[in-house]
Amino acid sequence: PQPLKIAVLGAGTVGTDVIRLLGQHPKDFAHRAGAPLEIIGIGVRDSSKDRGPHVDRSLIRDDLEALVEEADIVVEVMGGQEPARSLILHALENGASVITANKALLATDGPALYEAADRHGVDISFEAAVAGAIPLIRPLRDSLAGDRIERVLGIVNGTTNYILDAMTRTGQSFDDALADAQRLGYAEADPTADVEGQDAAAKASILASLAFHSRVHLDDVFLEGITRISSDDVAAAERLGRVIKLLSVVERVTGEDGSEAISARVYPVMLPNAHPLASVGEAFNAVFVEAEAAGELMFYGQGAGGAPTASAVLGDLVSVARNRVFGGKEPDESFYAKLPTAGLDAL
Ligand code: NAP
Ligand code: HSE
Repeated sequence: PQPLKIAVLGAGTVGTDVIRLLGQHPKDFAHRAGAPLEIIGIGVRDSSKDRGPHVDRSLIRDDLEALVEEADIVVEVMGGQEPARSLILHALENGASVITANKALLATDGPALYEAADRHGVDISFEAAVAGAIPLIRPLRDSLAGDRIERVLGIVNGTTNYILDAMTRTGQSFDDALADAQRLGYAEADPTADVEGQDAAAKASILASLAFHSRVHLDDVFLEGITRISSDDVAAAERLGRVIKLLSVVERVTGEDGSEAISARVYPVMLPNAHPLASVGEAFNAVFVEAEAAGELMFYGQGAGGAPTASAVLGDLVSVARNRVFGGKEPDESFYAKLPTAGLDAL
C-alpha cells in the first residue's frame, strides 16, 4: 500500500517524542497500521531552533496551512486556540484525519471540530487530551457505552500533582516545584492554565461530555486552582494525617423533583492519607469511574510528559491510519455539536 502522509504540527515536548518514537520502529508501525506512515513535514513557529537528533531538519516547515493540505493525517501537538483551530478545520475540510492532544481547544470548540469531521467523513481522535498515557477516552466512549456512568473523579493534572507532592514530601516551595514541572515537560506553555485549574477543568469538560453523552463547555466547570495553597496549608494537612490534592469531579446529580443535571468541578481537597488518591505522586494521574453495572473502575498512570503523551497520540495514529487503509471510522462524536449545553449544577 501507498504510504500515508503524516503532518506533525508542533515539535515541542510531545511532538518531538511522537517523531522519535515513530522513527524508531517504522516497520512495526506499517505492520500495525496497514501502510507505512511517512512524516512529510513538521510545522513549527521558529524554524531555526535546534530540535535534537530525532527531528530531521529538512522536514521542518513554517508554512503550516500548505503542509496540512498535503497530508492524509494531521497530528496537532502545537496547543493553543489559534492557529490550531483553523488548521484542524482546514485539515478536516481537505479530507485529512486529525489527532489532537489539545484539551484547551476541545473544551471550547470540540463540537464544531467533531461536526466538521463528521461532515467530511474523517476521524478526529484525542486520547492524549486527558490524562496523558492513560487510556480513558476510549474506555468511556466505547467500552462503557452500554453502562450508565454516575461519576468520574480523580487527579487529571500532572503539574499540580507534582507541585503538591513535592511540597508535601520534600518541603519544596511552590515556585521551585513549578519550575521543575516545567523543566520536566509537564506544564502547559503558559503554566497558569495548570496552577489555576483551567487545564483540569478542560479535561473535566471532555470527561463529562463523554461520560454523560452531553455537551459540557469549559465555562460550565466550576474551578479553583492551587495558587492559594501555601507550605503552611500543606503542613497543616500533614498534621491532620491528610494530603492536599487537586481533584476533578464530574457527576450526575438528581434534584428533589427527580430532574437530572451534571455537576463538573475542580478544586483542592484535603484527602486522608489512607485514601487511594493520596498516594498518587509526582505527575501521575488516577481516575475513578463509577458506573451502574460495572461498579468502580480505577485508571492510573503517567498523566503528563513527552513520551507518555506520545504513546496516546501514536495509539490514535495507528487507529486512524487503519481506518483510512481498511475503511471504517472512529465513533461519531458530531452529536455533541447538536446538543444544548448540559444543565449544570456546580456544587
Ligand atoms: P510545547 O513544548 O510548548 O510545544 C509546542 C510546539 O508547537 C512547539 O514546537 C512550537 O513551535 C509549536 N507551535 C506553538 N504555537 C505555534 C504556532 N502559532 N505556529 C507554529 N508552531 C507553533 O507544547 P507541548 O507540551 O508539546 O504540548 C503540545 C500540546 O499537547 C498542547 O495542546 C498540550 O496541551 C498538549 N499536551 C501536553 C502534554 C505534556 O505533558 N506536555 C500532555 C498532554 C497534552 P516552536 O518550537 O518553534 O516554538
Ligand atoms: N499540563 C498538563 C498536566 C499536561 O500537567 O497534566 C498533560 O495534559
